[in-house]
Amino acid sequence: MKNSRVRRLKDAHPATVLFKGVRVVDPANNLDQEMDVLVEDGVFKEISPRIDIPDPCNLKVIKADGLWLLPGLVDMHVHLREPGEEYKETIETGTQAAVAGGIVAVASMPNTKPVNDNPAVTKYILDRAKEIGSCTVLPVAAITVGLAGETMTEMAALIEAGAVAFSDDGKSVRSSQVMRRALEYASIFDVPVICHCEDPDLSRNGVMNEGVMSVKLGIRGIPRIAEEIVVARDIILAEYTGARIHIAHVSTEKSVSLIREAKKRGVKVTAETAPHYFSLTEEILETYDSRFKVNPPLRTQSDVEAIIQGLADGTIDVIATDHAPHSPIEKDIEIDFAAFGMVGLETSLAVSLGLVRSGVLTPAELVKKMSQNPADILGIPYRGICKEEEASFIVVDPNAEWIVDSTEFYSKGVNCPFEGKKLVGRVELTVCRGKIVFGRGEYQWLVE
Ligand code: DOR
Repeated sequence: MKNSRVRRLKDAHPATVLFKGVRVVDPANNLDQEMDVLVEDGVFKEISPRIDIPDPCNLKVIKADGLWLLPGLVDMHVHLREPGEEYKETIETGTQAAVAGGIVAVASMPNTKPVNDNPAVTKYILDRAKEIGSCTVLPVAAITVGLAGETMTEMAALIEAGAVAFSDDGKSVRSSQVMRRALEYASIFDVPVICHCEDPDLSRNGVMNEGVMSVKLGIRGIPRIAEEIVVARDIILAEYTGARIHIAHVSTEKSVSLIREAKKRGVKVTAETAPHYFSLTEEILETYDSRFKVNPPLRTQSDVEAIIQGLADGTIDVIATDHAPHSPIEKDIEIDFAAFGMVGLETSLAVSLGLVRSGVLTPAELVKKMSQNPADILGIPYRGICKEEEASFIVVDPNAEWIVDSTEFYSKGVNCPFEGKKLVGRVELTVCRGKIVFGRGEYQWLVE
């Protein structure tokens, strides 16, 4: 039995709650202070230092000292695996995992089976999300048909069907000419192209970061230049075309500096990294455990430090999970043959809160990178914690200690790199589009 409850969005009750003395952190509305917050019928009715309601009979009143109330998180890099690989994850389980991790909107990557390269697949994803999802799903459509890197997809029709961005995630678009045309076309609609940066000729058959460690372990290496060459190329293409690009899962020091320099020149580039790239290094592969096999691979301590610096100075705009669930069939095998990927939806906030405790980011900066910035990059409306707006927010206990146990996850994926680790900071309650979709521990009853 899980010590928490989730609900589908369509079945969840509207929130009618008064929080007393909660720390509200919302950079979009310049808020970082203790407040009382009144939510009625799923709408923020009042946000002020003190709200006194003489007869709160129909109202749940929550004494929230020590808790934080944040805008719901937006994760712009998630693999939901549906359609086609429902044994790894479904829209239902993936969105349940999302809300358990405080995430109210996920961008779903197109490397499904079939690939999301036509409006029928995009519509299928949106319809399923409406039917069984616990949060908002924002489909990312493929740049090229079948992710084959050759023929561009019908971008206009895909946007019309509901796609919010384009990516061949899992692969780079090998041809610079196809990528150039894709950028030119996407810029007409002002939608971002999300770049998976990897030169397959350089990364070929690699399993972990190339270096002393890969030699020592006898595991084939993926050189850092496989990523950096394509980061450089895509920046040059964005600069030339004037299009907007977003660099996915940044993992190396040089990628960070290429992006930093490009931003200084005014190139329309944004970037994301994932919690495992600022909290783990290649050393962990000493265990030969396939859970730590991910693409791009875990790198070295100096890369970790450069990524942290990139997050601190604004070079890296977003923390996304790259949640990539796989089943034991693909993961509990020899590392050479195992699939790339790690799950992250249910641990990302807790791991990222480490950046606040170590003074790298303020709570407001963290919220920007996990909520406001990804929403802005994807071009979805974003109001934060604002009076008279539909409420999408989370309540977090920043000091709650817990041990990661993937058997407790809502995700079907158990390929978690933080299994058995103690993390600090936990989502207690998630309200998405006015509805209470997740409650943990003493907040479970709010979901019923
Ligand atoms: O490790 C990864 N897994 N990296 C990717 O780019 C794709 C992902 C997946 O789909 O499993």
